[in-house]
Amino acid sequence: MSPNNKPIQVRRINLNYKENSETQQILNDISFDVDTGEFVCIVGSSGGGKSTLLRILAGLQKQSEGKILNMPEQLGFVFQNFALFPWLNVEDNVSYGLRMQGLSKSQIQKRVREEINRIGLEGFEKSHPKELSGGMKQRVGIARALAVHPKVLLLDEPFSALDEITAKGLRHDLLKIHEQTKTTVIMVTHLVEEAVELADRIIVMSPRPGRVRKIFPNNISRPRNVRSKEFFRLVDEIESLL
Ligand SMILES: Nc1ncnc2c1ncn2[C@@H]1O[C@H](COP(=O)(O)OP(=O)(O)O)[C@@H](O)[C@H]1O
Ligand SMILES: [Mg+2]
Repeated sequence: MSPNNKPIQVRRINLNYKENSETQQILNDISFDVDTGEFVCIVGSSGGGKSTLLRILAGLQKQSEGKILNMPEQLGFVFQNFALFPWLNVEDNVSYGLRMQGLSKSQIQKRVREEINRIGLEGFEKSHPKELSGGMKQRVGIARALAVHPKVLLLDEPFSALDEITAKGLRHDLLKIHEQTKTTVIMVTHLVEEAVELADRIIVMSPRPGRVRKIFPNNISRPRNVRSKEFFRLVDEIESLL
């Protein structure tokens, strides 16, 4: 088996900050695995260290202790507040990571077209972020992350800033993308329903310091009926821990 198909192994991650002479523990002994192609959600209350953990997984921040094994190099990251480049149009936002990779102009154009079509941004190629609704901005954020053909897609509360109807549409699009691309997805959310709708497995964190409280497999068959008894049963079971 190629090393790329080994599960990602998160092992005993700790994160401490020194504040005034006191040490603050943000993450405590976090361990879990993520299989190739799996869709994992990390849920927990606000301030519990979810964003910090995701940034550590992405290599954007260094942990105090512990290690992450088999994390592929090619990652896509989607932010809660979109984090688009306001001075770039949609096309140039989407192609940003590709230009960093040094692909040829025609390869870049092809990838940008594919991702713009996939996520429904046709006709908006020349628009700037300020001209777009929140939902369309996050479509750009997702297209930009996917354009590099990531082995792992990391999303930090990607739909939290959107109204529920828009969020619902984007959740369905994300599921479709996961089915099509088989990309490993690690997504942080504080919404238990969202996690139960999307994830194959749900990592529940408890706060201050952030720890893994429990890991739930989610075997509800897809497409998931978000009004079914089994759906509510799992939501309730997870919420009772938060
Ligand atoms: N750079 C930082 N310096 C000090 N404390 C931080 C820093 N970043 C995050 N924290 C603290 O870490 C905790 C977890 O934050 P965060 O990862 O954003 O949680 P969540 O995403 O679950 O809401 C919070 O208490 C926050 O104040
Ligand atoms: Mg956060």
